Amino acid sequence: MGYPDKLSYKTTITDELRHDMMALGGNGRRYLEVGCDVGYTVLSVATAFSECTGVDIDPARILVARDNAMRASVTNCAFIAGDSASVPRGRWDVILIDADHSYAAVKLDYQRIVRSLEPGETTIVFHDYGLASAGVRRFVDELASVGRDVTTLGKRDGWNPLGGAIDGPEAMAIRVHV
Ligand SMILES: C[S@@+](CC[C@H](N)C(=O)[O-])C[C@H]1O[C@@H](n2cnc3c(N)ncnc32)[C@H](O)[C@@H]1O
Repeated sequence: MGYPDKLSYKTTITDELRHDMMALGGNGRRYLEVGCDVGYTVLSVATAFSECTGVDIDPARILVARDNAMRASVTNCAFIAGDSASVPRGRWDVILIDADHSYAAVKLDYQRIVRSLEPGETTIVFHDYGLASAGVRRFVDELASVGRDVTTLGKRDGWNPLGGAIDGPEAMAIRVHV
């Protein structure tokens, strides 16, 4: 598959996670990614969704993402410079949170995103759960501790994009009904 060039950040999701998220796509379905970098992952799942949106706090990366979309002739993806406060209100079928990985930021992103959802069911995917240094695990484990059904997505083990300590799966997902 001809993915666009990835011009800046050195890590991205695995093909296992790409496959898992694309399996949740379909006609009329919508994908959102918070922390989209130069759009590599958004553009690589775009064939599985009717519409995709990427949000990133770095305007320079958003410009590259738009350029990558043009060069790859992908027309169903929009890119927005901003953080999770900039997420357009709407119904999303799959949302990947992969921005600031601190506990406080992941929690804030989740809360803002849930508030912006229109009625329907959404799968929210938290990337880098297995990265021991990140706060993702603490927040996802909190969701599980209050009874939320959390499922594993992506690479189950041995996933080590940054050379850091890995102790668990690449990503976790929950289903949110609004
Ligand atoms: C791990 S990279 C994302 C990789 C991307 N999801 C991919 O699959 O290629 C993290 C990105 O989050 C962005 N970022 C950091 N803090 C953010 C925030 N608070 N809101 C939105 N984006 C943020 C960074 O600019 C960076 O591009």
